[in-house]
Amino acid sequence: MKQILILSDIHSGTTRPSQARQGIVRQPSSNALEQLTRYREKWKSWPFDMLVDLGDLTKPIHESNENEDLYKKAVESIKQLDIPTTFIYGNHDAEYVSVAKMKMITGQAYFNSVRVVEGIQLVMLECTQIDQNTSIISPETMDWFGSTVDRKLSTIILSHYSLVPIKMTGSFGFEGKDSTVHVQNYLEFAKFIEGYNVRASINGHLHWGGYSKLGRFPCITVPPFTDNFLISSKVDAHPGIYNVLTIDDKSARVQSYSGDYCFMSIEL
Ligand SMILES: [Fe+2]
Repeated sequence: MKQILILSDIHSGTTRPSQARQGIVRQPSSNALEQLTRYREKWKSWPFDMLVDLGDLTKPIHESNENEDLYKKAVESIKQLDIPTTFIYGNHDAEYVSVAKMKMITGQAYFNSVRVVEGIQLVMLECTQIDQNTSIISPETMDWFGSTVDRKLSTIILSHYSLVPIKMTGSFGFEGKDSTVHVQNYLEFAKFIEGYNVRASINGHLHWGGYSKLGRFPCITVPPFTDNFLISSKVDAHPGIYNVLTIDDKSARVQSYSGDYCFMSIEL
């Protein structure tokens, strides 16, 4: 059995008034890294074989040149957990830190990668940011996928954006912005992966937990580490949510936790 820690939307930054909802103080993200550190011993003794960070490590400070530093500190905090880690990036990271800089800071030459775990192929997939609200699976990424990913192996795709449209009614940040939660060329990508043995996809970005379907396979949205569960100015209200992908020779499941409490469990 192997266990993979999945973190998403850590959004390390400063607590500040919401831009989307006037008059609300948004998220205690200023202590996100502190909260991460609190989990260190617990996660060390779990133990995890691998960590995948699904992106949005930062909550950028607009009009500021401190964002690169914010990203760097978040990467360092994750590396200090001492679990072999693969990073992909999110829209907030890409908006203020260039892909080249993120490669330098993470030490990763690529944001597309494959790892076979207990006979299941994990594909960490880069979603290329076109502008603030638009992301695609680029032709280069599809070429890479075509030449690298095994068509026969059971495959789980991990990405920042959803690979399928999702109705965002009731969402704190995405209500009325349904088109910004999925990759724009999802239909093209769905067709492209038809010949592959995709078992499930797992994404972040939406700031809630969810289950959708793309053709025959489930698309799981894992909830964020920070944000939107408690809207409060109190920094100790940080939810600190993490996800665990468990794979053995018979099954795979993803579970979401806050502290010791597992509140979502989905068989893949
Ligand atoms: Fe995001």
